Amino acid sequence: MLLPALLEADNVTKSFMARRRPRVGVGQADTQRAGRVQNNLRDGMINAVDGVSLAIPAEPTLISLVGESGSGKTTLSRMLLGLEKPTTGTIRYRGKDIFKLSKEEWKVYRREVQAVFQDPYAIYNPFYHVEHVFKMAIKHFKLADNAEKARALMEEALRAVDLRPQDVLGRYPHQLSGGERQRIMLARIYMLKPRVIIADEPVSMIDAAVRTLFMNILLDFRDQYGISCLFITHNLSTAYYLGGQLVVLCQGKIVEQGDMDEVINNPRHNYTRQLLNAVPSGDPEKRWTTKLTLEELNAY
Ligand SMILES: Nc1ncnc2c1ncn2[C@@H]1O[C@H](COP(=O)(O)OP(=O)(O)OP(=O)(O)O)[C@@H](O)[C@H]1O
Ligand SMILES: [Mg+2]
Repeated sequence: MLLPALLEADNVTKSFMARRRPRVGVGQADTQRAGRVQNNLRDGMINAVDGVSLAIPAEPTLISLVGESGSGKTTLSRMLLGLEKPTTGTIRYRGKDIFKLSKEEWKVYRREVQAVFQDPYAIYNPFYHVEHVFKMAIKHFKLADNAEKARALMEEALRAVDLRPQDVLGRYPHQLSGGERQRIMLARIYMLKPRVIIADEPVSMIDAAVRTLFMNILLDFRDQYGISCLFITHNLSTAYYLGGQLVVLCQGKIVEQGDMDEVINNPRHNYTRQLLNAVPSGDPEKRWTTKLTLEELNAY
């Protein structure tokens, strides 16, 4: 028997006021893209996400969400994280509309559904050592009742993501590499033992070796602790490495979804074929701009 979905988007649409008219570009790709954006425009509004239903099942699962820039990946992930309300449709956690949860239920949801963003630097407070990240989570979620237990938790979490506590504790965020900062975010998540991670382009700013390490940690999290992940990426080869399920988003709509191998080897939708042919775009400068502070991450 199939277990009910843990976290699900049910026929969710998010409309925004269009920021500006799409630029009709010089190249064919630009013209095609402008055409696509135009199709999605209605009365000056854009449906960034358009009637999407997506379920993260109760069984530990990795789902990669791919789609070109502007296809609605971040908007969908922000709705799943409760950071953005859908214009229509419902986001449910354990069967309940997340925007109608009681205070206690909301707290459980906030602990069980965790976020990882493209560049965690913005989340760190530059004036505090990195252990601040852990201490705040320990305090907020009451994970330890004395300093000794807190220290043990921190050290265990760091080892779980292949960092040596003596190498990172006592340092300031700017004294660490992007990959180390990103792994510390995973260590924080390890401490919280959530059920689901929503990761929006978490590896696009880190180099290939650390990227593989990062993905192996996600695979470990799934296999050892039953943590699912919705992994958002531009890069199909990264998604392929993770395996699991693949969901393809185009103009705010899901155009294809299924087992990774099946979709990659037998793409049904023309857009998926285009994505497969496209060179993965390494455009780390762009995109994630939403600032979420550590306080918000622990308490939103
Ligand atoms: N707050 C907002 N106000 C207006 N329009 C928005 C807002 N957020 C997103 N959009 C628009 O919604 C569409 C989808 O954006 P979104 O950021 O979800 O795409 P994405 O797939 O994450 O792209 P990228 O790969 O570049 O991160 C885009 O056309 C974007 O301009
Ligand atoms: Mg995005």
